[in-house]
This record gives sequence, C-alpha cells and structure tokens, in this order.
Amino acid sequence: MKYYGNYKKLIKPEWIDSLLENKGIEISPWKDHDESNNYNEIDLNQTLVNDEKEQELYINGAYDENLIMAEIFDQRNIPFKLDLGELNSFLRGDWWIVKQKPGQFMPLHRDTPNIHDNNFRFWMPWTDYSQGHVFIHEGEFIKNYSSGDLYRYNQDNDLHGSVNIGLTTRIVLQISQKELP
Ligand SMILES: [Fe+2]
Repeated sequence: MKYYGNYKKLIKPEWIDSLLENKGIEISPWKDHDESNNYNEIDLNQTLVNDEKEQELYINGAYDENLIMAEIFDQRNIPFKLDLGELNSFLRGDWWIVKQKPGQFMPLHRDTPNIHDNNFRFWMPWTDYSQGHVFIHEGEFIKNYSSGDLYRYNQDNDLHGSVNIGLTTRIVLQISQKELP
C-alpha cells in the first residue's frame, strides 16, 4: 500500500451522516442488487483468487450467498453531489463508496485478473480506524489509519479483503484509476 497523504479536509461531515442514514445497494457473494431489488450476477472472472481450485471453492459454497457483504453507493444512488475539490479529476475513473456495517465482510480477492488501463485502486477511508475494522492487504492488517488517508494498491495482483468486527460502521471511498490526477 502506497500512502499519498491525508485529504480529510475534502470530506464533508454531512456526507458521512447521509451515508449512515441512507441504505446503499446491498451486495452478496456473488450478486449485487439494484434499488428495485433485482439481483445482478457479479462477473466471476473478477473474483480471481490463487488458482482454479480456490476459485472453484470461492464461487461454489465457501460463502453463503445470502449474506450481505456491504452496501455500495455510486453514481446511481449517492445521496449528495460528490465534490472532492483538488482530487476531482480523480473521479474520472470508476468510483464507489463501500459502507460496511458490523458483521459485514469482503472475502479475500483480487479485483481483476486482466491488466487494463485503470490498474490501480485507491482506498480512502472516510471513517477513522476503529478497533474491529479489519482490512487485509497482501497478508498485512492495515490499521491505525485516519479519515481522509489516501492509499493505493495494484488492483490486478494484490490479494485483499475486509471484515467489520467492530461496533461502528466503516465507510471507504474506492477509486479505480491509473494514477493520481
Ligand atoms: Fe477489491
């Protein structure tokens, strides 16, 4: 994980309140569903783990498909206008906000098996680290971060996942982008 500094000044406290109050699009293994509760299959080629055997386990049965992993906010349902000031051009890439309530999890995975133009993932927690907010990146537990910290990893290759075993909701902005603006 490469650290790019802290941008907490760009995050409006009322955005966090509104994300906590509103419900996002719930995602399950390996489906997400839209606001009208239609489930969409997630492209399973994007869940590459270590090898075909792990991939098979991953897709078939290792995780209960009825569990809720997180809620997502993106252009479809964000309840405010996302304006990141000096980081605005960053939002040219794909971006989405992950809201992870206590008990929710994202199994270890790689984002994509194919190298493409936007091959970095920027990870920006909006909530301060709190005990139980686990994020694992390439075997390392990333903790003691602060709201607004901006990190980057290689989304093609890096194995990562998260779980919330704390008592408060975690909110993270993710951006898929080639480089910093
Ligand atoms: Fe990911």
